[in-house]
Amino acid sequence: MALSAPADAVETIGVPYMAFPTNRMRRLRTNETMRRLVRETTVSPDDLVYPLFVRPGRLLKEPVASMAGCYHFSPDTIAHEAAEVAALGIPAVLLFGLPAKKDELGSETWAPDGVVQTAIHQIRDVCPDLLIITDVCLCAYTETGHCGFVKDGRIDNDRSCDLLAKMAVSHARAGADIVAPSDMMDGRIGVIRQALDADGFHETAIMSYAAKYASAFYGPFRDAAESSPTFGDRRTYQMDPANSDEAMREIALDVEEGADIVMVKPALCFLDVVYRARQQFDLPLAAYFVSGEYMMIHAAARAGLLDLDQAMMESLTALKRAGADILITYFAKDAAKRFR
Ligand code: PBG
Repeated sequence: MALSAPADAVETIGVPYMAFPTNRMRRLRTNETMRRLVRETTVSPDDLVYPLFVRPGRLLKEPVASMAGCYHFSPDTIAHEAAEVAALGIPAVLLFGLPAKKDELGSETWAPDGVVQTAIHQIRDVCPDLLIITDVCLCAYTETGHCGFVKDGRIDNDRSCDLLAKMAVSHARAGADIVAPSDMMDGRIGVIRQALDADGFHETAIMSYAAKYASAFYGPFRDAAESSPTFGDRRTYQMDPANSDEAMREIALDVEEGADIVMVKPALCFLDVVYRARQQFDLPLAAYFVSGEYMMIHAAARAGLLDLDQAMMESLTALKRAGADILITYFAKDAAKRFR
């Protein structure tokens, strides 16, 4: 028998609701067990990716000054860290390399004994099942600090794509499971896909930083990765934070070119973009909770203004609620520890 709503019932999506006092929303909030039962969104260790910084050396574990709880590791120590990450149930790490030396082309990006390639081997020895994702970008490796190859003061888009493809193939050869281009050059996903396939790496996945904005929230990371541009800024390749229609076009192009996972970055200021991407695309969607967002919460907690753990979980939950499947975050270990 169908319920017939009284004249004053509130209608939502075809379901008739009785208004107060019949209906009391607080009934389902009475205790944590009840709240668990009706919770719509949960964060699990399965959702998390932990970014790690690696630089040349031995027995290195140096705190990153700009990022609380983060370290510069050498390839030997990063393997131990990765084992800890895997033991927490986190499926993947995302590697950022700081090369021994920078040059015009960023040639260490494709060196078989480069810092990331070496770290991949060392991690793989210790953690056979951990997914290794590598950031593919030139900014930490070039003298200019730009994400692409610079010629006469301008970013040469197509030449950059070739260099990025070389980098991606080199990471795949070292054993990366997923390559993640963060450079925002046009067409690089297609060029990288072709290069991987030509080298036999049909199964190496591409996680595209598809909608990456020119954001103020990358500040702490650029100190950590020593990747600040030495002139100008990144606004000729990264997106204008004012645009979200354009983000859908960026994502559509990367999907067409062969991206397996697409990303929106940063996360907290771009929840609407995450939500739109979720509505429009059906492949796995990642959100990158970037360094400035992470440190904003740390700084506020340190100042006694909010509870670090609660702010962390609320933020991560917001990303999932908006539609992200994969959360890339410096909080990954802290969040995963809550499940122990
Ligand atoms: C490199 C890159 C950046 C980040 C990830 N990859 C910095 C940038 O674009 O300047 C930022 C990550 C973070 O802030 O946590 N292209």
